[in-house]
Amino acid sequence: MTKNGHSQALSNPIFNLLSATAEELKVDAYVIGGFVRDYLLERGCPKDIDVVVVGSGIALAETLSKKLPGNPEVTVFKNYGTAMIKHEDLVLEFVGARKESYRSNSRNPQVENGSLEDDQNRRDFTINALALGLNAKNFGCLLDPFNGLEDLKNKRIVTPLAAEETFSDDPLRMLRAIRFASQLDFKIDPSSLDAISENKDRISIISKERIVEEIHKMIGSQRPTLGFELMHKTGLLPLILPELTALEGIEEVEGQKHKDNFWHTLEVLDNISKNTDNIWLRWAALLHDIGKAPTKRFDKKIGWTFHGHEFVGSKMVYKLFKRLHMPLNEKMKFVQKMVGMSSRPIVLAEDFVTDAAVRRLVFDAGKHVEDLMTLCEADITTKNPYKKKKYKNNFLLVRQKIEEVEARDHIRNFQPPVSGEEIMKTFGIKPSKEIGLIKEAIKEAILEGDIPNEYQAAYSYMIEKGQALGLTLQN
Ligand code: CTP
Repeated sequence: MTKNGHSQALSNPIFNLLSATAEELKVDAYVIGGFVRDYLLERGCPKDIDVVVVGSGIALAETLSKKLPGNPEVTVFKNYGTAMIKHEDLVLEFVGARKESYRSNSRNPQVENGSLEDDQNRRDFTINALALGLNAKNFGCLLDPFNGLEDLKNKRIVTPLAAEETFSDDPLRMLRAIRFASQLDFKIDPSSLDAISENKDRISIISKERIVEEIHKMIGSQRPTLGFELMHKTGLLPLILPELTALEGIEEVEGQKHKDNFWHTLEVLDNISKNTDNIWLRWAALLHDIGKAPTKRFDKKIGWTFHGHEFVGSKMVYKLFKRLHMPLNEKMKFVQKMVGMSSRPIVLAEDFVTDAAVRRLVFDAGKHVEDLMTLCEADITTKNPYKKKKYKNNFLLVRQKIEEVEARDHIRNFQPPVSGEEIMKTFGIKPSKEIGLIKEAIKEAILEGDIPNEYQAAYSYMIEKGQALGLTLQN
């Protein structure tokens, strides 16, 4: 990583065009922020390109658009003095250099124009204040007034100004610091970390949507626990996800302890992240035990219990999504389903694994049975090597049985082999409760393994059940 000669980062022809446009308008322009950071970290060249202009960002965007094939639309946010162009797979954002906090969502968007350095000063972290020149005089030169390059090398997240000031410009930056630490496996500078702890309550002025965006990115990191540990350490976590911190702690009654479900949850999250990139499955891992706090009881005979925590947990998922303004859609239902079923395979794995139990599991989990298995395997955090081995082997057996049962009975996308119409026709009856009873009996017989999941067998069974209910065959 050197100071000069980064024109390689600017090899996309769009940058030459930008350069020519800046010259034509006689303004200085720079690529700044995430694009430069990720290029220097060799994380590839991002598709989001932030351009800062000493002058009007909007004018640069508008002039550039005229030179681009198809003259892409320039979306102007006048209040904030920013503009955006989508070109091929790139999203280019333009902003005039500012002296004051430039965040679009800051409550006082009136800002004073400034120099590049003024603008860099107001950015969140030194590693995000790195800029590459776009003009002829400095094309590809790195402008790094705060030693952001050093911080990249030392894996350090630090604010360009005093942390309090940077965070007060936009308190979301406290979460961004933690998110970058998690995503990049960097350390937050102690002074910045202290400032997060001190200012944590200011997160309350930030919209839920922006907070969730950061949480998603943390969950999507290679080791999401890094972010959650930092949120816990700084005290942000109970302000955002109190359901998780409620799981913390070990209680002991009459010499009996339960595990610390908070730290267990984090372990499960890291475990699952090694096996899936599906962010919603990772969310399910994060939330799989939240029902344990409200259901915890001590029973003199059995010890600690968490009766019905899966059901309670899946209800809590809805409330949590709603509170955080997350969409209450299929993804949420998926998380609810995973939380609700999160103990099922474990129960199977502890016991003798019968075909019928596996068929029921596949029936209930449907197309998500693989995901459920992935979640349950991640849930094994026991430090007892004997138990660990036993559970893993049993899960292997469950997976194997799922395949066998599926190949034979096709339960995953279960469709009743005999329709309601056929039942009505066979017995000459109108819509009535008998139809439901017969259909349910057929499904039960298939799941129990009394009959195969085939039309002929189900048809004969329907006749048997119908007659037992006093119905007579139509000719
Ligand atoms: N920025 C900032 N304060 C914020 C958000 C953004 O100072 N609260 C600045 C940083 O310089 C950042 C740039 O704006 O690099 C672009 O922000 P954004 O696109 O949100 O983030 P990136 O840094 O590009 O990273 P990522 O794409 O991973 O979110």
